[in-house]
Amino acid sequence: MAFIKPSPFSPLLTLLLFILSSLLIPAHSVEFAVGDKDGWRIPSSKADDFYNEWASKQRFQVNDTVRFVYKKDSVLVVNDTEYRKCHSVQPIFFSNNGDTEYTLDRPGLFYFISGVSGHCERGQKMIIKVLEPQSEPSPPAGGSGASKAGMIGASLIVSQIVIALLGFFFS
Ligand SMILES: *[C@@H]1O[C@H](CO)[C@@H](O)[C@H](O)[C@H]1NC(C)=O
Ligand SMILES: *[C@@H]1O[C@H](CO)[C@@H](O)[C@H](O)[C@H]1NC(C)=O
Repeated sequence: MAFIKPSPFSPLLTLLLFILSSLLIPAHSVEFAVGDKDGWRIPSSKADDFYNEWASKQRFQVNDTVRFVYKKDSVLVVNDTEYRKCHSVQPIFFSNNGDTEYTLDRPGLFYFISGVSGHCERGQKMIIKVLEPQSEPSPPAGGSGASKAGMIGASLIVSQIVIALLGFFFS
């Protein structure tokens, strides 16, 4: 029968492993890099539906963010009429700083266009559909508080197991 001698570093190790294992549990909101490596620019003429195809492959949830990286361009959030016209006088959102993060703060459709003349017409536009929060399996009564407690519990258990294993191998 092996007894595990508590090491003096145990509390520190517990904390470290707790933080580590918390990071391994998926975070609630996700950041999407629009267009992946291509960023936000005029797509090639052969793939003028590039951004809508990119968006259709992702699963957007409320509070996820989309990040646009670009040079000498801009990002506008507009309504559906303006999206179809590729033009907006008063966009819902405007940014041209080259690195724009936008939070998808509600379920439903978001319309993005480039504000640079001619770019939207050449395919630099995108519709994003954010899923209703109900799409996740509904948590038991007590809701997110209970599941958060569960995650913390799981992290602690993982930490303790790792410590026990370390103790076993290094004693
Ligand atoms: C989104 O974030 C806001 C502000 O942080 C919060 O009040 C809201 O509950 C979040 N919604 C979801 C579905 O996570
Ligand atoms: C879209 O926005 C423009 C400018 O704010 C507005 O005039 C128009 O009525 C809006 N259209 C819709 C369908 O909401």
